[in-house]
Amino acid sequence: MDLDAFRWLLTDEGQALLERATTLEGDPLQVQSRLRRDAAPEHVAAALTQVELRRRAEAKLGDDAARMYFTPDGLEQATRAPVAAHRAGRLAAFGTRTFVDLGCGIGGDLVAVARTGATCVGIDLDPVRVAVAAANLSALALGGAVDVADATTLDTSPFDVAYADPARRTGSGRTWRAEDWTPPWSFVERLLARDACVKVAPGIPHDLVPDGVEAEWVSDRGEVKEAALWSGRLATTARRATVIGDGGLATLTDEDDPGAAAVGVRDVGAYLYEPDGAVVRAGLVTAVAAGVDGGLVDEHIAYVTSDASYRSPFARGYRVVEELPYREKPLRAALRERGVGRLTIKKRGVDVVPEQLRPRLALQGDAEATIVLTRVDGRGTCLLVEPF
Ligand SMILES: C[S@@+](CC[C@H](N)C(=O)[O-])C[C@H]1O[C@@H](n2cnc3c(N)ncnc32)[C@H](O)[C@@H]1O
Repeated sequence: MDLDAFRWLLTDEGQALLERATTLEGDPLQVQSRLRRDAAPEHVAAALTQVELRRRAEAKLGDDAARMYFTPDGLEQATRAPVAAHRAGRLAAFGTRTFVDLGCGIGGDLVAVARTGATCVGIDLDPVRVAVAAANLSALALGGAVDVADATTLDTSPFDVAYADPARRTGSGRTWRAEDWTPPWSFVERLLARDACVKVAPGIPHDLVPDGVEAEWVSDRGEVKEAALWSGRLATTARRATVIGDGGLATLTDEDDPGAAAVGVRDVGAYLYEPDGAVVRAGLVTAVAAGVDGGLVDEHIAYVTSDASYRSPFARGYRVVEELPYREKPLRAALRERGVGRLTIKKRGVDVVPEQLRPRLALQGDAEATIVLTRVDGRGTCLLVEPF
């Protein structure tokens, strides 16, 4: 997006155009030509881009989206509001009074921390994102300063907490090599020598996490969104899984984990539990097993089984109805016999592609069912289950 066109959008004239672009309804081409009667094409394009991005942003940022500003990439890279609010809550509980965001983008995290009342400074290399982040603070009536600067040369010592969310994209797409992030891993490592938080990809290898740094995997409504590394006095444990759901937030740490040896592998009981992705990434499946008085179905598989029924924010629970044949032909016959026409296929640790298997099962009937394909103590197994 063009910086001049964005700045113009913030003028009274620009705001009036944006308001009209938001409220005009009908065919997009007609809307565009109506707006062009009174405004320059680049201004109309800037206004219509914001209308479209605000609509797209709603899923990520909720009601704030209608008042905020975006760039397409800036929106894609922005932290989801519930995850940013959780991080901001942790920072507030720590007593953060001054905060610097070293690569604030359009300000997804920055606005969440500013809301806690901390004095916030955001910097970014990209002048358009800086202008957008500043506009977002102002649109949400939040304090804070934003400027164009290079994070790698900034003295962060005046701030209680420094935060970074390095960009994990290059010109050719996402990059998994931490040294290719911007700013790179070497910068992150230096930052983690102080009170800091760094957002990283959920796939970060455990052995990359420096000693004494807490790694927190966060999921929002069942999807793992990020890992956050907390250092200095912000680190409270080694590994943590935080699960954000409709019922609020729940967190599990390695202190809740008795370890694989204590939990062990056992026969499938009356209930099966599918741990949340954040729990799996954090390596805390055995903590879930201990929490439901259960064990693992296989030492390498993230399914837990128990004879007891528990509701847990950390795992989806299923009642085990019966074991069905694992091989395709007898499985097809068994599902046919039960009149299963609609089938949910869950799988872990087996080489099955549900989208390819489903048509081959030639489902027929009115019944709906869920099967779990997995390894039980090394053996391919199919379980008919009912979610509870
Ligand atoms: C993933 S985005 C941040 C998104 C942000 N946390 C949010 O929620 O909106 C990373 C940002 O870091 C910026 N960046 C990369 N290297 C930088 C550097 N050396 N100094 C300052 N900013 C940098 C990029 O321009 C990009 O806007």
